[in-house]
Amino acid sequence: METMTPGETGVRVIANAEMAAAWDGPEGEHWAHHADRYEQIGERQLSRLLSAAEVSPTDTVLDIGCGTGAATRAFALAASEGAAVGIDLSSQMLQRARDKATAAGIPNVSFVQGDAQVHEFPAGEYSLAVSAMGTMFFADPVAAFTNIGQALQPGGRLAILTWRALELNEWLTAVRGALAVGRDLPSPPLGAPGPFGLADPDHVRHVLDGAGFTGIDLTPSNEPAIFGSDANDAFDFVSSFGITRGLTQGLSEADRATAMANLRQIMTDHATLGGVEFATAAWLITARRSS
Ligand SMILES: C[S@@+](CC[C@H](N)C(=O)[O-])C[C@H]1O[C@@H](n2cnc3c(N)ncnc32)[C@H](O)[C@@H]1O
Repeated sequence: METMTPGETGVRVIANAEMAAAWDGPEGEHWAHHADRYEQIGERQLSRLLSAAEVSPTDTVLDIGCGTGAATRAFALAASEGAAVGIDLSSQMLQRARDKATAAGIPNVSFVQGDAQVHEFPAGEYSLAVSAMGTMFFADPVAAFTNIGQALQPGGRLAILTWRALELNEWLTAVRGALAVGRDLPSPPLGAPGPFGLADPDHVRHVLDGAGFTGIDLTPSNEPAIFGSDANDAFDFVSSFGITRGLTQGLSEADRATAMANLRQIMTDHATLGGVEFATAAWLITARRSS
């Protein structure tokens, strides 16, 4: 069901009210505050996305769930005679995105606040829709990708990054393991809106096929992510994660202290000369809007 958000958020019509509350709230604030760090963490996956999308100088690009705009800027630079538009739910992240694009002096980039599932994109405006981890949060993924498809020209391309299953993503299993302190933590269900919403390849094919895409291809993209320059730096960053706050809430003082000590130890265990490194596992998904 569509709901109206309070006027001051700037989001007109949204279908994903819970996600908007998080991303246009505390989660977005955290990402906006740590924008440089998050962009650095995603750098290697982003360069895989750029190659897979085969962006040309004349492309008109839509970046879905653009956050602070790293992909939007990269695609705008590659589409030097075209343009790139980023859409996101989070006013805080979009503010950082606009500031960063201005500071970088990139003229052919713009940003809009909205819910990509229901936003009224100009029909057939874009030749390429991309996303770096911004399309797994839709309550109704078929409706969302149908809406995104309508924004594409017939035959227009889709290239998105999504997380593969939790157990393949050491960056998260390590943090969860450190914070479990004897608890059996429930795994986020595959296919539910959230980081693993598009982790199951059969579900991805079903969603994109249902939304009118063809030539659907999934390729694993496993790249290391650097969480900090050394163990202390990485610990400070990971301590402020929403998941860390969530998983330590309600713990006794002693268990909380153990959990945080475990977390610090994990950062030490993963320290390398190049920084504190964790394995990540994503899907690079490409498809085309049916002509
Ligand atoms: C994991 S972050 C990734 C941000 C950015 N692409 C990056 O790589 O740093 C997910 C982003 O998707 C956005 N998002 C989630 N659901 C959305 C929706 N329905 N419409 C638009 N943006 C959405 C969030 O606000 C958030 O900025």
